[in-house]
Amino acid sequence: MSKEGHMANDTETVAFDVIDGIAWVRFNRPGKRNAMSPTLNRAMMEVLDELEFRSDVAVLVLTGEGAAWTAGMDLKEYFRETEAEGLKGVRRSQRESYGWWRRLRWYQKPTIAMVNGWCFGGGYGPLFACDLAFAADEAKFGLSEINWGILPGGGATKVAVELLPFRKAMYHALLGEPIDGKTAAEWGLVNESVPLAQLKDRVTEVAKILRAKNPVALKATKDAIRRVGVMTYDEAEDYLVRAQEAANSFDNEGRKEGIRQFIDEKSYKPGLGAYDKDRKVR
Ligand code: COA
Repeated sequence: MSKEGHMANDTETVAFDVIDGIAWVRFNRPGKRNAMSPTLNRAMMEVLDELEFRSDVAVLVLTGEGAAWTAGMDLKEYFRETEAEGLKGVRRSQRESYGWWRRLRWYQKPTIAMVNGWCFGGGYGPLFACDLAFAADEAKFGLSEINWGILPGGGATKVAVELLPFRKAMYHALLGEPIDGKTAAEWGLVNESVPLAQLKDRVTEVAKILRAKNPVALKATKDAIRRVGVMTYDEAEDYLVRAQEAANSFDNEGRKEGIRQFIDEKSYKPGLGAYDKDRKVR
């Protein structure tokens, strides 16, 4: 790691840089359109491990090297070669991929998918695992499984149903037609779509806003959004009371400072922006 807080590992299937509190993690098999092989899946888990609790990482962005975000599971290395090893091989490779997606869904830091290009099939797992998603207008999204004769597994069907209305999910999965970034934003697969040339700037802008917020509150909030969807109102109310109390005991001082800067100092308005978390509690 250099003095600038820059760390890179560009020879692997996953590459990353940490710059100014933002970890830029890249699927790094551009020649294979960043298809997720067992090797890549293992490398991604290692990189997520490495970055999760580093004090110089506030936000993680997941993007792809070259023309793809990810072309989904590697049909040769993930499917054909592991099937040749029998059920043991299949289950192992499933554990490795589902494992890092699950890890990412509950990641300590806020996460952003920066979808720069192709995003197919198994790619919907990490897409959904990221808290926010921004796409290039030029990107292409598809549940392509039907086109080569399987159902959208590995959570992809679940992702479609979570993010899309029923008719759109059904159409998307049955027809196997790719949609562009703009349509993905209209349908709710991603938050926004912008021209590719502006994508990194827009994601950097969002990452900087996240970076300035209370990290304990960010983690509690992102988990709450994922958890309460399947709860009754009363269960959600109870969960949120307890989640806030747990967060308070974790980061009591930051929360008090947020109240102080608004009520006493009148230096910001919580409805319009975040308190300055870098200033010490008095
Ligand atoms: N699994 C394995 N290899 C893949 C792959 C995948 N999912 N996606 C791309 N590749 C490989 C190709 O086999 C090719 O390898 P080669 O150069 O050794 O022949 C290389 O990546 C480039 O792919 P190519 O198809 O030539 O690139 P393209 O830019 O013309 O097309 C795609 C890009 C993404 C449209 C096309 O590669 C594709 O349809 N991939 C499969 C997508 C898919 O169905 N994924 C779902 C899996 S669950």
